[in-house]
Amino acid sequence: MSYKAEFERSINQPEDFWREQADKLPWHKKPTQILGKDDQGTDRWFVDGELNISYCALDYHVENGRADQTAVIYDSPVTKTKSKLTYREMRDQVAKFAGALRGLGVEKGDRVLIYMPMVPEALVAMYACARLGAVHSVVFGGFAPTELAVRIDDAQPKVIVSTSCGIEVEKVIPYKGLLDDAIDQATHKPNHCVVLQRPQHTCELIAGRDLDWNDLMAAAEPADPVNVKATDPLYILYTSGTTGKPKGVVRDTGGYAVVLKYSMKTIYDMDPGEVFMAASDVGWVVGHSYIVYAPLLAGCTTIVYEGKPVKTPDAGAFWRLIDEYKIKSFFTAPTAFRAVKKEDPEGKLLANYDISSLKIMFLAGERLDPPTYHWLNELLPVPVIDHWWQTETGWPIAGNMMGLEPAKPKAGSATYPTPGYNVMILDGQGEKAAPDEEGSVVVKLPLPPGCLTTVWGDHDRYKSSYMNAYPGYYETGDGGKIDKDGYLFIMGRTDDVINVAGHRLSTGEMEEIVANHPAVAECAVIGVADELRGQLPVGLVITKDGWDGDADKLQSELVAMVRKDIGAIACYRQTLIVDRLPKTRSGKILRNVLRNIADGKDYVVPSTIDDMSSITEVEDAIKTKLTTA
Ligand code: COA
Ligand code: AMP
Repeated sequence: MSYKAEFERSINQPEDFWREQADKLPWHKKPTQILGKDDQGTDRWFVDGELNISYCALDYHVENGRADQTAVIYDSPVTKTKSKLTYREMRDQVAKFAGALRGLGVEKGDRVLIYMPMVPEALVAMYACARLGAVHSVVFGGFAPTELAVRIDDAQPKVIVSTSCGIEVEKVIPYKGLLDDAIDQATHKPNHCVVLQRPQHTCELIAGRDLDWNDLMAAAEPADPVNVKATDPLYILYTSGTTGKPKGVVRDTGGYAVVLKYSMKTIYDMDPGEVFMAASDVGWVVGHSYIVYAPLLAGCTTIVYEGKPVKTPDAGAFWRLIDEYKIKSFFTAPTAFRAVKKEDPEGKLLANYDISSLKIMFLAGERLDPPTYHWLNELLPVPVIDHWWQTETGWPIAGNMMGLEPAKPKAGSATYPTPGYNVMILDGQGEKAAPDEEGSVVVKLPLPPGCLTTVWGDHDRYKSSYMNAYPGYYETGDGGKIDKDGYLFIMGRTDDVINVAGHRLSTGEMEEIVANHPAVAECAVIGVADELRGQLPVGLVITKDGWDGDADKLQSELVAMVRKDIGAIACYRQTLIVDRLPKTRSGKILRNVLRNIADGKDYVVPSTIDDMSSITEVEDAIKTKLTTA
């Protein structure tokens, strides 16, 4: 079928379209009602279906000829370890860990928080929760204890699963120590913590609360899959919004399983038995969808890579992985290739490897900037494909359907809307924009299966963040345009969210931290363009009247505060002291104007501006005082 016919059918006959896709999964009870509404009025898919995703991704394959196929490859240059788990071994470990969790009182609907680096046990823990119908919430290891504490209080986990440490190139990160700090800071206390001790740094276990992973596994009885409703939550994944409090994106089970399986063929062109790699982290949505769940739902092999694109040991790391494991489709963030390009500008290391297994290179997490696109396109003998998605959607909103009907890529474009997503551009008045006209990117409801169904514990926030601005549409928070050929270009966020090295962060949250410094009267944090990381946060600070401290000292204190409260991944490194910030006469900081100044884009100064000279001052400060990384 052509892309156009498939897309139109998905929009005009969504129930027939998704029923057919759902038929490809081994349900416990096949859904008969494909689309309905819950009592909050939210669209819900496969309402009367029942399944267990750990059964669909593991037991089903064990029972159908894939028991001895490799399910998970662990490749860890930082610990010099490599190992493999077959589907049978993975199923058995998951069943045992599920039994262990049950022994700790975890039942269907209970939350389990997972704070782990890229080790196969992270996948085992996630699938074990899914096996019991418990809801996992994985927190990225780069977040500091304060961020972790906020998530503990919001998700209220019965059990937390962690490791003694993670390894960042050569640095050992004491995960368990960070976790202990977070639990001290949180109001909610878990009943137990399960800790995987790693030889690079072992940790103390707190008697009565903490348990050793290996001891538990040795004693555990395997647990069978517990069937849940398609609409039951599989996980909560926190993502940055515009305020200090992250949003707990809630993902359902059935819709998610259906679209992940669909996307593995349609978008990624993967068939059962083939090897897929997403170079991300289990703490991000890409990790949840395309390291953990989708490859195994599709009967493929997935790779857990505990390393970086560079420095572990060099910029040939990705080529080595493709060669060694015969990877067919590879997926990473553009920033990773910008790092490779920086270290190996001519891609010379590629010559050391045979990458003939590679058929497609996928990029996402931030816009694939044309220079990186052209560099990769010239270097690689395969198509280089940008595709666009968000934590909220869980799978691509737009891309090039490589398993259906590949389109000719256009630099800077994520190509076409994925079947199921009725993507439109609305102008400032909420009217449909003309071709090539930039506006807000929205998706006409219903969203396809797999997308968020609420914000954990705060349905009003779900409505106010995504559904209220344009009634009948999901607001993505991205700006962009569709050209006359139907290609979608995502140009960047229209809110206070920035993207630093493929990591989504809230400038609002950083502002709250910076504003807490005793010398700071007012501040704004904005994202400025950065060659390696895409964007970097920069603080614009007005100091309190009479402050005559040292600017360098203030800067290092602010850096330390953001690092302590959010984590090193925020990469907050620069502060500019200014006398004024552009504001309206009612005192509201003109963030939109600041964002455009920082991006070097044209902007319109609203008539309500209080003092025009504040704009010139900020522009000068950004142009003259900012040092590039
Ligand atoms: N646990 C603890 N700390 C972490 C961490 C983790 N999982 N991940 C990153 N950090 C720390 C780093 O150690 C570093 O700390 P430092 O300031 O003390 O040196 C800081 O956070 C910044 O990390 P990072 O942005 O990873 O910088 P880097 O220089 O080590 O690597 C890149 C740069 C571009 C190679 C790296 O950011 C990268 O691979 N990005 C791709 C991200 C990605 O795949 N995102 C997923 C979206 S699909
Ligand atoms: P996250 O929720 O962390 O996946 O971040 C989602 C945001 O990253 C989107 O809203 C976009 O702003 C940005 N993003 C992700 N992929 C792309 C892409 N291919 N092109 C442009 N922006 C992207």
